[in-house]
Amino acid sequence: MMLNVLLVYFSGTGITRYYASLICEEMESRGYSCDTLNIEDFTNLPTLWQKKPVALNYTIHAEEKRPLGKYPWPYLDLKNALHIIDENPLFRRLASEWSNYDLIGFGSPVYGFRPAPVMIRFLLDLPVFERPVRVFSFATHDGAQGDYEPFMRGLLTMKGLNYVGHTDQSFIYSASVVLRKKFDHVKTGRLLINKSIQARKNINIFLEYIHSLYQGIPYWYKRDSLIGKFVGIPYRFFYSYGIDLLLNHFLFGYGIHKDDCVKCMTCVQQCPQGLIELDDEGYPIRHYHCMYCLRCLNWCPTDALFFSKATDRKARFPGPEVLIAAAQQDDFDLRVQRMRKNILP
Ligand SMILES: Cc1cc2nc3c(=O)[nH]c(=O)nc-3n(C[C@H](O)[C@H](O)[C@H](O)COP(=O)(O)O)c2cc1C
Ligand code: SF4
Ligand code: SF4
Repeated sequence: MMLNVLLVYFSGTGITRYYASLICEEMESRGYSCDTLNIEDFTNLPTLWQKKPVALNYTIHAEEKRPLGKYPWPYLDLKNALHIIDENPLFRRLASEWSNYDLIGFGSPVYGFRPAPVMIRFLLDLPVFERPVRVFSFATHDGAQGDYEPFMRGLLTMKGLNYVGHTDQSFIYSASVVLRKKFDHVKTGRLLINKSIQARKNINIFLEYIHSLYQGIPYWYKRDSLIGKFVGIPYRFFYSYGIDLLLNHFLFGYGIHKDDCVKCMTCVQQCPQGLIELDDEGYPIRHYHCMYCLRCLNWCPTDALFFSKATDRKARFPGPEVLIAAAQQDDFDLRVQRMRKNILP
């Protein structure tokens, strides 16, 4: 069986992008063709998001607790956003372009138990498809994906698409890295390699299900058990406090060491919500609460930015590929050392 597949995704710090590449590799090893599309590569996310911004609860809470500035745009609460049938005329062509695919996957990181706000905005802006193309959702997270799947199912079904399932992988909480003094690249790289092996196994279970779907004898592969659901309720309760604490106390704010800033504009360009502007002296400033994807912080070349004292001069997340390469290089060096020990007296 040969399937034409498209994976459309948003990725804050690169983990979802990496996961999409794993899904593609597994699909290709089965003879499917697989294209990937980062939504940032074909649309201007800040413009898209700022026109009708949707926000997760933690942003709205943060703004209520400690307003940073005046809202330039009213943020739309997610639950309300889902009831507004929206369509962006710029995306109308996608309905015919994407209808040639047999299967489309939509993926994003889990933020606050839901898809990332810019992904939700993008999905709301899609046209209603006349051909009910088969679609699935995929996600990366840290073990608590909450309502991610029902949200994606609801959004994609609303657009006339035929939602067939979901696959996901827990990797690491890339945001928490900025609270650590030191960050062990090699150790995290090894963890990511192990998680990738697990991810490939789960992707293959999912692809078996996809295969059965096209053979006309679908079986549901869902791993959720009733016990898992009960354990999930208290876990979710504590986790949501953890997220609130992390985002609204440790990551809160926006600071800059002006002496270190080289005015390169990387942070301005990297912000998927277009929230960073320049002050009168040309230094970046963020007036409003954001989704805390941490790209501005992580990609600043001189480490001039911080969100709070807790994140000042702390570790940065360099992206999964860098970490995996560090682990592989280290393992290689270790193997060479061992070999030498065996050969040399
Ligand atoms: C703002 C924010 C909120 C998050 N909320 C959750 C969450 O509710 N549950 C979870 O399991 N992981 C959560 N995470 C962890 C991310 O889902 C995880 O690190 C993801 O793999 C990042 O993917 P990316 O590199 O593609 O952005 C959160 C991360 C951030 C930055
Ligand atoms: S990325 Fe860093 S150095 Fe560049 S403008 Fe932003 S704060 Fe300044
Ligand atoms: S200000 Fe920084 S953390 Fe917030 S959305 Fe923009 S890039 Fe992400």
